Amino acid sequence: LLRALSPKDLAGKHVLVSLGPTREYFDAARFWSNPSTGRMGACVAMAAWLRGAEVTVVAGPVSWWFPEEVRVIGVTSAAQMHEACLEVWPSSDYGVMAAAVADFSPIPFEGGGKFKKEAAGERPPLEFTPTRDILAAMGGVKKPGQYLIGFCAETDNLVDNARGKLTRKRCDAIIANPIGRSDAGFAAPSNEAVALDADGRQETWGNIPKTDMAMKIWDFSIRS
Ligand code: CTP
Ligand code: CA
Repeated sequence: LLRALSPKDLAGKHVLVSLGPTREYFDAARFWSNPSTGRMGACVAMAAWLRGAEVTVVAGPVSWWFPEEVRVIGVTSAAQMHEACLEVWPSSDYGVMAAAVADFSPIPFEGGGKFKKEAAGERPPLEFTPTRDILAAMGGVKKPGQYLIGFCAETDNLVDNARGKLTRKRCDAIIANPIGRSDAGFAAPSNEAVALDADGRQETWGNIPKTDMAMKIWDFSIRS
């Protein structure tokens, strides 16, 4: 019923949403990750579905329930998320990268199996390599008519950093939100954000539920 009552301004559009954290395994028992729960991305995906879109979700290890028509591709690592997103992106009209992709992966323990802590001595043998930037890769192969929305999590200089990411990653819009507080960002039911687009539009959204913010993101992004 809710879907029947919503505006259908995304009818016939393909929407790709990435959400959740990624996990970068060091050994059979340990991984590097972040506190993302996927809630903001799940709200964006649901809002797109309500507005008539055909939705594909690429989800890190989190559990959200979606309507049957929503296609969900479950992934674990940043490399798997990269592969899934780049496969779906060419046939999408909108891409919304809400995932908190790990920027670094530990080089896996060479022995295979589980690393024993006694073998570590003072420090575990941890070295990291950078992951590939999925959003930037999508921006690099973006075709005319495709609309790419990135997110941006910052503790400082929110707007300046967001503008930089918008240009660098060739996005059409960036939703920038402050992190490091309990009432917004990671895992919180509500969020605060600044929306920026490539044409210089800028809107500030006060503390509102992520369900409402998802609708605002679409209001901001859908061009007639
Ligand atoms: N992102 C991505 N692939 C990565 C890292 C980030 O697709 N390997 C995307 C995120 O999904 C988000 C945007 O890039 O949409 C910005 O992520 P953010 O972590 O704020 O910025 P980074 O470019 O990773 O820079 P930093 O973490 O150093 O601020
Ligand atoms: Ca990052």
